[in-house]
Amino acid sequence: RAAMPKAPAVIGTLEEARAAVRHCTRCDLCRHATQAVFGEGPAGARLMVVGEQPGDQEDLAGRPFVGPAGKVLDEVMQASGLDRGRAWMTNAVKHFKFTPRGKRRIHQSPDKGEVAACKWWLDLERDFVKPQLTLGLGATAAQALTGTGAGITRRRGTVEDTSSGPVLLSWHPSYILRLPDAGRAAEARAELAEDLALARKLLA
Ligand code: URA
Repeated sequence: RAAMPKAPAVIGTLEEARAAVRHCTRCDLCRHATQAVFGEGPAGARLMVVGEQPGDQEDLAGRPFVGPAGKVLDEVMQASGLDRGRAWMTNAVKHFKFTPRGKRRIHQSPDKGEVAACKWWLDLERDFVKPQLTLGLGATAAQALTGTGAGITRRRGTVEDTSSGPVLLSWHPSYILRLPDAGRAAEARAELAEDLALARKLLA
């Protein structure tokens, strides 16, 4: 392994951060991912949406939430009256973690060390964007945003105060897609919609 990452040059803007994250070696995920996927949206967004990490399609496209989970999120956001184009969309971890299986790349959840290493970038995004509300999707986002990823079942739909502002937690759309039971999946999707409607209300 090469030497530890150089301390980043002073990063004064989101665009400088986007350029700098391309060279990030804070953890080993940079070794196999295609590219770092930084957040996107208006610099002064009032809502920040934080997922887990880029998936297969995001890794190739270099943009967050453009694959199947993004499609669910787009649909539910739209149905809840939230405009994705006005939100800062990002992930707790900026590189895709996977294991190769034949031609496919199978998603693996980032571990706590990887989440902790990448929090540097998430904190930077939060400092620059200063969202009024941050929506954390799933356990990894909860871990990065609040310090604990446990207990999403009882925490979802509630707002937690953190040193960088209020955080509303909900289900991750990939979790909904993976639920084997169609009835439970529909229920979880309705709960995500409920939480997004609460986000809209809180921002009104
Ligand atoms: N899942 C995530 O958490 N983020 C993405 O960008 C895509 C899928």
